[in-house]
Amino acid sequence: MLTDSGPAIDQSALEDLAALLLERAGLKISPDGFYGLRLALRAHMPALGISDSGDYVHRLRQAAGEHELRSLLPLVTVGKTDFFRDGRQFHALEARIMPDALLEARHARRRVQIWSAGCATGEEPYSLAIVAAELGARPKEIEIWATDLNAAAVESAKVGRYPGRRVAGLTEARLARYFTPFGDGYEVSPTLRELVRFEGQNLAAPVFAKVLPGSIDVILCRNVIIYFDLPTIRGLMDRFFVALRPGGLLLLGYSESLFKVYDKFQMVEIEGSFIYRRPKPGERATDIPGLLGSALKKAEPPPKAHGHSKAAKPHKRGHGEKPAPVRRAPAASARAARAEPAVHQSPAERLEAAMARSERGEFDEALAEVKQLIEAEDTDLDAWLTLGNLNSLMGHAAEARDAFTAALAIEPLCVEARIFGGVAALQIRDLSGARAELQKALFLEPTLSLGHYLLAQVFEQSGAAEEARRAYRNALAQLRFPQRELAGHYPDMPDSPETIARAARYALAALEER
Ligand SMILES: C[S@@+](CC[C@H](N)C(=O)[O-])C[C@H]1O[C@@H](n2cnc3c(N)ncnc32)[C@H](O)[C@@H]1O
Repeated sequence: MLTDSGPAIDQSALEDLAALLLERAGLKISPDGFYGLRLALRAHMPALGISDSGDYVHRLRQAAGEHELRSLLPLVTVGKTDFFRDGRQFHALEARIMPDALLEARHARRRVQIWSAGCATGEEPYSLAIVAAELGARPKEIEIWATDLNAAAVESAKVGRYPGRRVAGLTEARLARYFTPFGDGYEVSPTLRELVRFEGQNLAAPVFAKVLPGSIDVILCRNVIIYFDLPTIRGLMDRFFVALRPGGLLLLGYSESLFKVYDKFQMVEIEGSFIYRRPKPGERATDIPGLLGSALKKAEPPPKAHGHSKAAKPHKRGHGEKPAPVRRAPAASARAARAEPAVHQSPAERLEAAMARSERGEFDEALAEVKQLIEAEDTDLDAWLTLGNLNSLMGHAAEARDAFTAALAIEPLCVEARIFGGVAALQIRDLSGARAELQKALFLEPTLSLGHYLLAQVFEQSGAAEEARRAYRNALAQLRFPQRELAGHYPDMPDSPETIARAARYALAALEER
């Protein structure tokens, strides 16, 4: 855990850095976030042997400092989080998972261990603490261990004070019972604090020295693996697998999935939520304990629909230069799930169905279905991105922009929001807007060939032939790195490496001819 000690950091250096992050990554750091910037600088400057914060920021401005600037991003951003985020999962936690865990632990005379991994500013672990308190659990019966990489977020979580708008999702009764008014907002009560232990922890670290094998009943790691590439996700899942008790559960984010990524867990359905489970000895990962619906028993890979199925697609956004993780795939086949009531369709399947409609030309219906999905879960990034793309294709430029802004509010470093925002700007011939968006995408993910290809198109349309050539060549050069499919749907986006290579070579040849 970082402390407030270390090299002195000038206010003017922080302001310069905030301006630089806005310019390069489109990241808005409010003065509230300066404390996080300060901690990040204190953590990083000594490793480079720099003691003057002005010198450090000067270095970040140079081309050679780009990598270092990018490495600060996870330390200075926290994606969206909320109390009781994903109501269906919390229903499962309240109705089944936590009561069962408490009962089992009481019989075994041990404490229930729950780990909120990537706890951000504490809303998730405090929500778990509320559920535990409502189930009558005492601190000696349950511990909620809450960890995050971002030191400023962990500190703020420990303080446990939230402005009024951040507690808006809590019922009056819970607010009155578990919080006390503090200034313009609320502070968590000692009852909740006693149940939660916060710590700094990097989930990408190769070893979890503080975790005893087989000791954790439930892990929540929601909306975190979006930051990781595929090897990092697999390594993390191995560590989670070892950390969980046999029969222990892992909850990922609403649209995150391990389909074709990691197969040691079973997938079970509990109260309408799909949840991963470490099999007990003698069970195989594919054995489905009695919790599952029939659709999942027939689990098979979803058919590739219309050439851009979202099943098992590689995905990453934001913080790194590495290839993307694979996620957000349903465990059941789209066919099997379609035979089930809508509640059994995963978000990915519902989005896929909406896109199938758009490909039949039923744009209004597709739009309505995507909006419905967002009504069910307003932090579904795939759905927001798809909504933006549909709106852009239908000529609703302002609505498209709003949807990408919403995606960025959920995940401030969402590469896709920048890429699709760039495409939407191109659509209305806002060339400077398109260029700005695509350059931000490429700052976040320099190896994304599609980004270079689209930027080349912007240059070409601006009449800048030399820059266009260079960008097309960059698009080809980046193909030596593994490329990922983007989150969200955009019909007919030339996003496979082969298509990009062909299109870039063709465009280059056409430019040479001119
Ligand atoms: C979008 S928030 C999710 C918060 C909460 N789990 C939820 O779903 O509402 C993602 C969190 O993951 C954290 N994170 C990103 N990379 C991490 C890493 N390598 N180790 C630990 N936490 C990380 C970020 O700091 C951020 O607080």
